[in-house]
Amino acid sequence: MKLAISGKGGVGKSTLAAALALLLVRRGRTVLAVDADPDANLAASLGIPAAVRERIVPIARQIALIEERTGAQAGKFGQMFKMNPDVADIADAYAWRHAGVALLVLGAVTRGGGGCACPENVLLKALVSNVVLHRNEALVMDMEAGIEHLGRGTTHGVDTLIIVVEPGQRSIETARHVKTLGAEIGLRRFRVVGNKITSPADEAFVRAAFRDEELLGMIPYTEQLRGADREGRSVLDDMQPELLQKFEDILDKLEKG
Ligand SMILES: Nc1ncnc2c1ncn2[C@@H]1O[C@H](COP(=O)(O)OP(=O)(O)OP(=O)(O)O)[C@@H](O)[C@H]1O
Ligand SMILES: [Mg+2]
Repeated sequence: MKLAISGKGGVGKSTLAAALALLLVRRGRTVLAVDADPDANLAASLGIPAAVRERIVPIARQIALIEERTGAQAGKFGQMFKMNPDVADIADAYAWRHAGVALLVLGAVTRGGGGCACPENVLLKALVSNVVLHRNEALVMDMEAGIEHLGRGTTHGVDTLIIVVEPGQRSIETARHVKTLGAEIGLRRFRVVGNKITSPADEAFVRAAFRDEELLGMIPYTEQLRGADREGRSVLDDMQPELLQKFEDILDKLEKG
């Protein structure tokens, strides 16, 4: 199963990505979680302590690796470099292992933006392509709303793009935008999770914006999830069975296809 998760800032992408990755481990799957959001916070949602998180060097900042694989220096323009760097070993060598999940943090391309034809961007694109197309483990990719890292050649390897929304016009507009962008690059299956639901009216609002078959589930706004972030715990820590079941149901639907 290869999942990509997108949506507006702060809607709960990393919360959902971490919950699904951890639940897949509980179901006995080998799981690779990829943090493809330049504003990376999947490590925290997985419950990796702050002191440990500081030691994780994102791939975009692995200067020696970038130079070794592309033949050019990160952050410099106007150089010749390999457009198809060898990346097959990177996921295994650079993933951080925690609670059964292998976590790969891509990091931000700081100069020229994510679209630039610079060595670090070429390496990240090749790496995303490799984990989506050529590896067998379950993949959960936490993305920004821009879905920058996915390219045309890669999208057929993604089973589902999950778009997280909260009950409000803005995140629903972002969801529509993500769908349009995704369809343009060939993504086929979109699903929506409504998060931070506080009332039946909230739920009705999200339901009205999407087709029934597009909706994977609704996650209530809970103090438990807020607290997990505040206290640096994994999203599944001390999760009430009722809430856990909501995430299990989402995963069941995804596994059924
Ligand atoms: N259902 C929920 N109930 C309460 N708080 C929630 C819920 N879902 C997420 N949160 C909280 O909302 C904040 C944003 O969640 P999260 O980091 O998962 O979102 P994100 O979309 O990954 O954000 P970003 O765009 O910054 O990466 C966090 O503090 C998280 O704990
Ligand atoms: Mg996030």
